[in-house]
Amino acid sequence: MKNKERRPGPKRTAGTAGKPAHGGAPKHKNTSPRQESRPARSATGGEARSVTRAAEAPEAEQRPLIVRTGERPPERVPVILESTGAGDFHLIDSGNGEKLEQYGPYRIVRPEAQALWPKGLPAHVWEKADAIFTGDTDEDGMGRWRFPREALGETWPLSLLGIDFLGRLTSFRHVGVFPEQIVHWSWVKQQVEAAGRPLKVLNLFGYTGVASLVAAAAGAEVTHVDASKKAIGWARENQSLGRLDKLPIRWICEDAMKFIQREERRGNRYDIILTDPPKFGRGPNGEVWHLFEHLPLMLDICREILSPKAHGLVLTAYSIRASFYSIHELMRETMRGRGGVVESGELVIREAGLDGKTPGRALSTSLFSRWVPK
Ligand SMILES: C[S@@+](CC[C@H](N)C(=O)[O-])C[C@H]1O[C@@H](n2cnc3c(N)ncnc32)[C@H](O)[C@@H]1O
Repeated sequence: MKNKERRPGPKRTAGTAGKPAHGGAPKHKNTSPRQESRPARSATGGEARSVTRAAEAPEAEQRPLIVRTGERPPERVPVILESTGAGDFHLIDSGNGEKLEQYGPYRIVRPEAQALWPKGLPAHVWEKADAIFTGDTDEDGMGRWRFPREALGETWPLSLLGIDFLGRLTSFRHVGVFPEQIVHWSWVKQQVEAAGRPLKVLNLFGYTGVASLVAAAAGAEVTHVDASKKAIGWARENQSLGRLDKLPIRWICEDAMKFIQREERRGNRYDIILTDPPKFGRGPNGEVWHLFEHLPLMLDICREILSPKAHGLVLTAYSIRASFYSIHELMRETMRGRGGVVESGELVIREAGLDGKTPGRALSTSLFSRWVPK
């Protein structure tokens, strides 16, 4: 960071500036939203806090971490945020390494490594699915869709929390939405609707934009950032589908780290920040995102760009080998001296049966940590 860009504030530490962020860049591109190609290293320990530069990020002048002082915010743990579905989505059944989901008119079968238990519904129900993902069962593995009834098109209309968007059968098994996020979206919606002023919401790693649309439709001014041109295109398509073109959303195709650093320098502030980073990712210019190395700095910058009257900073993490405590304690360290509360735990989806109303087993999808001002 150049001196002229420094603002008065807490003391910063240089960490190990100049040290490569990791031994080698992940080989994949941003072709899958939840891509993960190799086992995670431990999420804990000091290593993550000491590395502040990305190896390959062009122009990635990353500023050092700030040494935070003051009290750590009190904690609420564990918090399990559970969804039984909403709108066009519910989880019908799961088991034997698979899940059966309802997305509007279609029943879809996908691999689900966490479903170690037996299936609850008989085989004939599963066999009648409209689309079955076959292929690599690793998280985000490539594969194909099989259609036991009739071939489906690539997209179909869906609605969640009153927002229309397109379901999409991708070759990475994803369907254009991560429904476990519904709990965060409902929270954002409530915050925006109750605020009495237009909140500024930043959605980092925003993918197909459902969260951005939910927030904007509730009255927020939204900035949506994603590295994938394709994902931004889909998000805009979703905006048009719902006739929401007039809503104040800035769609930004950029590396998330680069974007927030610029916002920090410019003094732009947000009332709510959502960040849902993959384990590995790449910015549009090849910038490397590696969660275990870059998350501490990302959260630190997010703290700086929260407005004085901020409503929350919401982090989700998935497909990593870590406990929610690793992101929880990082969030508490990051938010030292800022007051508020840090609540952390898991996002789970509960089976709801064929009728969408019969509660069954809970399927964990991700870890989360959320700072809120009270
Ligand atoms: C799992 S998706 C996020 C899902 C989203 N929160 C939702 O609920 O719909 C991860 C997204 O991160 C994006 N991404 C990966 N690396 C990135 C980077 N360096 N900067 C910005 N976005 C990135 C991918 O293009 C992808 O859309």
